[in-house]
Amino acid sequence: MHGCNGKMGQVITGIVNEDADTVIVAGVDPYDDGHNNYPVFSSIEKCDVEADVIIDFASAKAVDALLDYSEAKNIPVVLCTTGLSQEQLNRVNETSKKVAVLKSANMSVGINTLMKVLKSVAPVFAEAGFDIEIVEKHHNQKVDAPSGTALALADSINESLDNVYEYKYDRSKERVKRAKNEIGISAVRGGSIVGEHEVIFAGMDEVIEFKHTAYSKAIFAKGAVQAAKFLSGKQPGLYNMSDVIG
Ligand SMILES: NC(=O)c1ccc[n+]([C@@H]2O[C@H](COP(=O)([O-])OP(=O)(O)OC[C@H]3O[C@@H](n4cnc5c(N)ncnc54)[C@H](O)[C@@H]3O)[C@@H](O)[C@H]2O)c1
Repeated sequence: MHGCNGKMGQVITGIVNEDADTVIVAGVDPYDDGHNNYPVFSSIEKCDVEADVIIDFASAKAVDALLDYSEAKNIPVVLCTTGLSQEQLNRVNETSKKVAVLKSANMSVGINTLMKVLKSVAPVFAEAGFDIEIVEKHHNQKVDAPSGTALALADSINESLDNVYEYKYDRSKERVKRAKNEIGISAVRGGSIVGEHEVIFAGMDEVIEFKHTAYSKAIFAKGAVQAAKFLSGKQPGLYNMSDVIG
């Protein structure tokens, strides 16, 4: 477990402790007070324990060493850390030619299933002239807006529409009607909201809404453990959560 003492690392530790099919054989984290029921190494280079797969929820700064390690030891990696640079994303592609890598900005089974559903329904609604809008809500500690998940939802829709749609984040600067090939994306920030995403297809006299609500970070952790089980023993390649959902 790479980043084992972080918020996500600890949620995963709890889930694995309750799961008879999985065991964390080692953790990596520069900060450790010795409370885990597995050995913890201060850096990945120091880890000499054999593993079937690495789950990563750490820091973008730690990703280069992680990829070096997974390639050198031939251990597949479920890469969940976000905020990777373009250079690192290129590096992920290169690494995946040698060892299995699964990367997803949102590990929840619900969001990934929603993306699949959107790809199949968006062309029908777009053809019928429906406008497409996304509203996302998160806690007041989140610094980026819109969320990576809102963008990923928009990308799923756009892919199914030959990528001809443009994203609109702010309508306050101009006084014009919305364009047809526009996906409006609005961000709400407040309190302790874990994460809400609403995708709205608004037509003449009818509106269809798809809504996903995250009540805790456990949804990402469960998805990551499911992904780790899927990835163990897989051939080199770049996988994502839709491969896990099937
Ligand atoms: N893909 C998803 O679904 C998803 C969901 C939640 C969070 N995330 C991402 O996962 C990452 C971690 O999230 P978090 O909420 O657990 O953050 P966090 O800050 O609570 O935990 C990160 C942990 O990584 C450790 N760390 C720092 N440098 C390290 C290194 N060189 N090697 C190993 N560990 C190192 C830190 O000490 C810390 O314990 C973030 O990038 C976050 O955006 C992704």
